[in-house]
Amino acid sequence: MPARPDKAPDSTNYEVKITEKPFNAQVIRSSSKEIVWDLSIGPIQFEDQFLQLSTRLPSKSVFGFGENEQPSFKHDFNWKSWGFFSRDQPPSNNGNMYGVHPFYMCLERDNMNAHGVLLLNSNAMDVLLQPAPALTYHTIGGVLDFYFFFGPSPEAVVQEYTSAIGRSYLPPYWALGFQLSRYDYGTIEQVKTVIDGMREYNIPHDIQYADIDYMERQLDFTVSATRYAGFKEYVDQVKLEGTRYITILDPAISGNESVGTYPPYDEGVVMDVFIKDEQGEIAYGKVWPDYPNITVDESKDWDYQTENYRAYAAFPDFLKSETKTWWKKQIKDLYDNKFKFDGLWIDMNEPASFVEGSVNGCSQNKWELPPFKPAIYGPRLADKTLCMSFQQHKTETEMTTHYNMHSLYGWSQTPVTLEAVQEATGKRSFVVTRSTYVGSGKYSGHWLGDNTSIWPHLHKSIIGMLDFSLFGVSYTGADICGFFEDTTEELCARWMQLGAFYPYSRNHNGKGWARQDPPFFGAAFANNSRDILHVRYELLPFLYTLHYESNTKGSTVIRPLLHEFTSDVLTHTIDRQFLWGPSLLISPVLDQGEVTVRAYFPEASIWYDFFTGKRLESGGYQVLDAPIEVINLHVRGGYILPTQMPDNSTMFSRLNPCGVIVAFDSDGNSEGNLFWDDGDSKDTVENGAYYLATYTASKTEMSLTSTIDKNVGGSADNLLLDNVKIWGISSVSAITLDGTTVPTSKYTYDSSANTLVITELGHDMTKPLNLKWTH
Ligand code: GLC
Repeated sequence: MPARPDKAPDSTNYEVKITEKPFNAQVIRSSSKEIVWDLSIGPIQFEDQFLQLSTRLPSKSVFGFGENEQPSFKHDFNWKSWGFFSRDQPPSNNGNMYGVHPFYMCLERDNMNAHGVLLLNSNAMDVLLQPAPALTYHTIGGVLDFYFFFGPSPEAVVQEYTSAIGRSYLPPYWALGFQLSRYDYGTIEQVKTVIDGMREYNIPHDIQYADIDYMERQLDFTVSATRYAGFKEYVDQVKLEGTRYITILDPAISGNESVGTYPPYDEGVVMDVFIKDEQGEIAYGKVWPDYPNITVDESKDWDYQTENYRAYAAFPDFLKSETKTWWKKQIKDLYDNKFKFDGLWIDMNEPASFVEGSVNGCSQNKWELPPFKPAIYGPRLADKTLCMSFQQHKTETEMTTHYNMHSLYGWSQTPVTLEAVQEATGKRSFVVTRSTYVGSGKYSGHWLGDNTSIWPHLHKSIIGMLDFSLFGVSYTGADICGFFEDTTEELCARWMQLGAFYPYSRNHNGKGWARQDPPFFGAAFANNSRDILHVRYELLPFLYTLHYESNTKGSTVIRPLLHEFTSDVLTHTIDRQFLWGPSLLISPVLDQGEVTVRAYFPEASIWYDFFTGKRLESGGYQVLDAPIEVINLHVRGGYILPTQMPDNSTMFSRLNPCGVIVAFDSDGNSEGNLFWDDGDSKDTVENGAYYLATYTASKTEMSLTSTIDKNVGGSADNLLLDNVKIWGISSVSAITLDGTTVPTSKYTYDSSANTLVITELGHDMTKPLNLKWTH
């Protein structure tokens, strides 16, 4: 958070009105006089372990608050409570989940202005949404530290919020490619079978994952010598073919290995990195690592296995400098000695534990049993995690209870993990984390956790991404085809289509469920997956540019329609469609058996079918054909989207010719950007080592031009603009590039669709473009 200003600003776009008897505080937008907060609706309570504040809101158009599984993006105000306390909790109706974001965005009654409010507090809390409309916050610690962001547009709210909490991480280019994972391939042979299948069908595959089953007994920083023999060499090989590797790391470290055999624990003890109990001894829970010298009988139930197989595991205290040094060393050793991973996936960092509190339980005190328990899962706060009275660092020098720090655990692990992987690989790399808190987006992406292979979870994944867009985490997505349970071919096909438009596009499967990688279902499925991933790859320059804008301006990547069409109230409830940035509308099929989709097209813009370039005849709700191989995509008039010819991975696609899609608005104008860098180095934006171009097209001028706003570092030196698609153009008789006639063999004009397609233009993209046409 920015430092508290030492003087009041000269002017503000809000007023705060305080009256003393009876007490009230109002926060008012100056321009419209809208009262965005009014505390007269209920008393403020400020007690030890219980703080309550209620406020009346201007409207029920409230979005955000997480992490949870919401039935709709727009909140329900019918006495609905949401809890906040990080928890190893798969999406399942209304509960508090892995991350904590006590932030909401509210659209005011004029359907124009929006504001955001953050309660910066890490204690367990809940918020009750009431019909007045009103909110009541209850938190069991900390202070009432509220921040307001006045927009006035919803996008501006997110831009302001992220200027305070940190802007979304710019992932490396390859992190936008397609990714494949499963918990329990079991052996390296299984991994090879799947990767061979991906190659056989030419399915783009930028990242392969190694989940905990590649380890020896699920011990971090080990590789199973029997089931994954030759892993290091195999990783090197697939990387030459264009597929990178990400490995999982869980925070909990086994304490049951013989002394001298497991450096991560031994060194952690010496460096004193683990969280302590009240007696000052290392606190142990149980997570994935197994005891040494046991035979696991997987037919036993969960509790039996936890008791008999799972080792005592200690939890690093990530806010201590020794811990950071130790964690980085373990990651570097893994990279140097075991295999060359490219990024890290941090999991179970709520922190999760399979025993309540610790292997010795918890003492009974006011931290374990506070007088008030917010509306969160579990009978006690220590359910599925550590005891609340355990001691850990709050800063380098100050200690506090886990009670205060619980929801910050994953957040505290994230920056040091990013530093560690960057130091090990020498590259930008990325971290994807399960547990997040306010500001996590600056260091990581987030997947939406252990979903299930069921139809409603397609829809829920859109809501989850829209929420995280508000929370400043732009690199998000759900496990494509679902984590728990067997998927079906139809569900998985629809999920591959939708997932092709997740910023974080990963098909991940749980242990023991049927295969769901694209080759598994045979040729038709595999070909459809490849085709839709080719569309994704074609659009990666655009997606990367959106991530750059998110990183530098705080704009959302996955954007709700209401951010672009705020005055159109119909958009306020739309969460079955979403936009990439301002301009690409994605309208997936989310229900079994459906071969059409009812999609909304705000009338304020004109829309073009992505696949044909044809203008949609009218706006409003439309029923569109969507047979099993089709996802509907539309480009909004007024925008230019940069593209590149797809390939099997970004290693190859980045070498291919580029293109632009020009979609005119009703005034005959269109504009867009391309951000480009080497895709892989650290801090290219901070160092100014990138390329940025702006494209502008005009129907009246009959021209498409570009300006090169920046070109440092040479990453764009070999980019050629070959493919130009211009949509909404009424006739073409001749085309020139820099005054030279473009031969007619290089373009096609389709008068029924009003589309012009130019190929093999061969324009050097480091030079300004000057393309003209005549009618
Ligand atoms: C957790 C993760 C899941 C992972 C599994 C095994 O359930 O959420 O993605 O596959 O642990 O590591």
